[in-house]
Amino acid sequence: MHRVSASREGVNGPTRTIVLNRTQGEDASAELRASEVRFTRFFNSTPMAIAGVDASGRILRTNAPFLQLFSSVVDRDAVDRRVRFETIVHERDRPAFAAAFEKARQRQANIEPIDSVLPGNEERHIRFYVNAVADSAGGEGAEESAIVYAVETTEQKALEGQMAQSQKMQAVGQLAGGIAHDFNNVLTAIIMASDLLLTNHRPSDPSFPDIMNIKQNANRAASLVRQLLAFSRKQTLRPEVLNLTDVLADLRMLLARLVGNDIKLKIDHGRDLWPVKVDIGQFEQVVVNLAVNARDAMPSGGDLTVRTRNVTTEECKSFAYRELTPADYVLVDVEDTGSGIAPDVLKKIFEPFFTTKEVGKGTGLGLSMVYGIIKQTGGFIFCDSEIGKGTVFRIFLPRHIAEVKKQAEPGAAGR
Ligand SMILES: Nc1ncnc2c1ncn2[C@@H]1O[C@H](COP(=O)(O)OP(=O)(O)OP(=O)(O)O)[C@@H](O)[C@H]1O
Ligand SMILES: [Mg+2]
Repeated sequence: MHRVSASREGVNGPTRTIVLNRTQGEDASAELRASEVRFTRFFNSTPMAIAGVDASGRILRTNAPFLQLFSSVVDRDAVDRRVRFETIVHERDRPAFAAAFEKARQRQANIEPIDSVLPGNEERHIRFYVNAVADSAGGEGAEESAIVYAVETTEQKALEGQMAQSQKMQAVGQLAGGIAHDFNNVLTAIIMASDLLLTNHRPSDPSFPDIMNIKQNANRAASLVRQLLAFSRKQTLRPEVLNLTDVLADLRMLLARLVGNDIKLKIDHGRDLWPVKVDIGQFEQVVVNLAVNARDAMPSGGDLTVRTRNVTTEECKSFAYRELTPADYVLVDVEDTGSGIAPDVLKKIFEPFFTTKEVGKGTGLGLSMVYGIIKQTGGFIFCDSEIGKGTVFRIFLPRHIAEVKKQAEPGAAGR
């Protein structure tokens, strides 16, 4: 018998092999031993967590990966005490397991896999396969009624979610972009016609204010449409190579006026900031929008901090953002000490027309526009927030590396 001892966390410890001489012949015993060693190796060196369960739902034995995966809810001692399998599954799914074990008892094949989560940590997803033990011919395996295989699917779940989210944003973007484009043409015609009317009417004319009103409203509609176009990444950007230190320094006055006196504005410039290639007007729009949101989140004052710094390719890993592809970036943080955003709201903030503000206060296009501009620039935007503490928006803009004109370097000459 070959047994891999595992610590409480399921980390493999020293292995121990005991030879049990159960057969008469010497040769048979050696063969048996070899086969047991082979089996144990299979059993413990698999990414699958495996547990044998008896007819009353108690765990009989597990492999090392099982203890590792469920280290927060079960340990070797518990297995030795034969805890019930249901104690290690999430309450929500206990009936499903009971049903699956019942099916296993009846030796049913093809029992549906069960998708569940770790009891103490709903962020970790696990898929369980319950299999009936078909041959209870006797021996050690006789009491086993079912074998449960489990694999962690957290990564897939996250990818699925990410995929669905990006598809949604793309679909909405396409729709919004299509409408905005046509709408823009209509508005241009209205504005042109009202301009024409305005030139043909004196200001003293009774219809003059009405025409003026038409034009002003058409202009407001046009600015909404522009935000939609920005979200759908369909606007023409005029990117130039810039140093954000200068851009933000120039923007300071405007931001300070925007947030008012109750909010303390701090701009924290990173050293030797790499250049980026962005449309300056659009970048300013991004910062202004984030600042306005921050102001709205701090009705009784607070701190608004804009911080820049370089982030190297290696450093990208230290951020828990899956989508962030490792590269050199200039990071712009816009941080407030406001109300914060609840997790279920956080998922939707970049969607067009999503707003928690009263009717007439917000259109829900601010962050959509921000998102579109950053994406179109080849960057990333993430938001971390904690209710009651505040919010930070992180913008990663790709470092611009000037194309070096191929010139013979002095040292390379004469080769
Ligand atoms: N800094 C922040 N703190 C708290 N909540 C925020 C913050 N920024 C955005 N939000 C939330 O995200 C929602 C969407 O923001 P977004 O800028 O897209 O729209 P809006 O500000 O409501 O309207 P608009 O910007 O079009 O006037 C807001 O309604 C608010 O609930
Ligand atoms: Mg806004």
